[in-house]
Amino acid sequence: MAIDYAERIPNNVNLAGDKTLQRALEHWQPHFLDWWREMGPNDFSASEVYLRTAIGVDAQGWAHYGEVKMPEYRWGIFLADAVADRRIGFGDFYGQPVWQQVPGEFRSQFRRLIVTQGDTEPASVEQQHLLGHTCPSLYDLRNLFQVNVEEGRHLWAMVYLLHAYFGRDGREEAEELLARHSGDVDKPRILGTFNEPVEDWLSFFCFTYFTDRDGKFQLKSLAESSFDPLSRTCRFMLTEEAHHMFVGETGIGRVVRRTLEVMKELGTDDPEAIRRRGAIDLPTLQRYLNFWFSSSLDLFGSEISSNAAASFANGIKGRPDETQYEDHVALDATYELEVPEDGHVKQEKVSMRNAMNEVTRMAYVRDCEIGLKRWNIQMKRAGHEFQLTLPSPRFRRSIGAWAGLPTDPQGRIIDREAYERGLPDWIPSAADRAFVKSLMQKVTQPGKMAGWIAPPERGINNLPVDYEYVHLT
Ligand SMILES: [Fe+2]
Ligand SMILES: [Fe+2]
Repeated sequence: MAIDYAERIPNNVNLAGDKTLQRALEHWQPHFLDWWREMGPNDFSASEVYLRTAIGVDAQGWAHYGEVKMPEYRWGIFLADAVADRRIGFGDFYGQPVWQQVPGEFRSQFRRLIVTQGDTEPASVEQQHLLGHTCPSLYDLRNLFQVNVEEGRHLWAMVYLLHAYFGRDGREEAEELLARHSGDVDKPRILGTFNEPVEDWLSFFCFTYFTDRDGKFQLKSLAESSFDPLSRTCRFMLTEEAHHMFVGETGIGRVVRRTLEVMKELGTDDPEAIRRRGAIDLPTLQRYLNFWFSSSLDLFGSEISSNAAASFANGIKGRPDETQYEDHVALDATYELEVPEDGHVKQEKVSMRNAMNEVTRMAYVRDCEIGLKRWNIQMKRAGHEFQLTLPSPRFRRSIGAWAGLPTDPQGRIIDREAYERGLPDWIPSAADRAFVKSLMQKVTQPGKMAGWIAPPERGINNLPVDYEYVHLT
């Protein structure tokens, strides 16, 4: 179905055909805009930004580019096209037709999942609220804003589902999504990582690399859902999400490139010398990666989880890319994992259904490794030994079997004291953060880059890198 842009809320769900729902969402719309004005990149409300907006959900139609003032962005409700005769792809109802309504017995589980996903979307906009003031270039500023408006749209996607399928509870949850705020003492966001401050651009690139990638895997799992509107919503969100990870991967890659240039210029890899030249030394980058990777791993939940088993059994949430597996019921299959016991590591065999969080997390870890390989090739080519690595998934965990257990980044169990002693070398110290912050000086001359980051290889939508992507006022 084509997107109707004549409507107050652009949509391809025939909103005009359901007046009650339309009215309810039109009532929520000004609350969303108030939230955007207060918690979004509000100091740039009057700036024209070169943004893409969806005008159709098919491959050609959805990315339409033009200059837009962010508060006038056409946030709307876009579902991927329905798949004819789609069948449930996993769990106890495998092979049956998918659901167009939420079955009563699974209502609260679905609602919780949608609310949790929905909560992350505005949370990230809040976390990135002030970054515009320290942008390394107009190109990057535009990318930040693109990510922000799309996270706003992802909130719309979840709010639509809540309003359309969960009645009064859903409407209340939609209001709550605007009432919780990232880092708020009284009403924080639901998940830990989404309460971490993102106050510098290195953190932003790590966030988009690691935390938006968690989003990708959650959306992939939900795209498998038997509840078809949820599946279709998430399938379209994935197309937008890909850009966020692009921003992270190329952002970190450009930091590496610039650091390598400085190392070559100075003829040294001494962190202090590199810092004095205004670039980010590779060990500091490694600490940032350690921080955001370990934090993002918690988002997948416990290694062994009866909740995850129930979600799978009931067809609520599948494995990412479920079609890659042969056994979609996973009733007799088992999964082996390593858990700590009395200071040692032991192998444990659990039912596959109970290990679904871990299956998804491991797929995520493999995906995270791709970028590191690329950055490491850059370093090798430049003649350096240094290699970036992902820490062990046991390191610095707050959720699951390894929660609170002191290990080093290699995953070896160590005593608490050694952990505390080692931590400043493993995650950014206060001094690291202060240094990175000191580099964050706003650069807004078209085509110019801050000294700590290399220019991108190409601009947006075939435009040159020095295009004026944001018209500041
Ligand atoms: Fe998102
Ligand atoms: Fe995202």
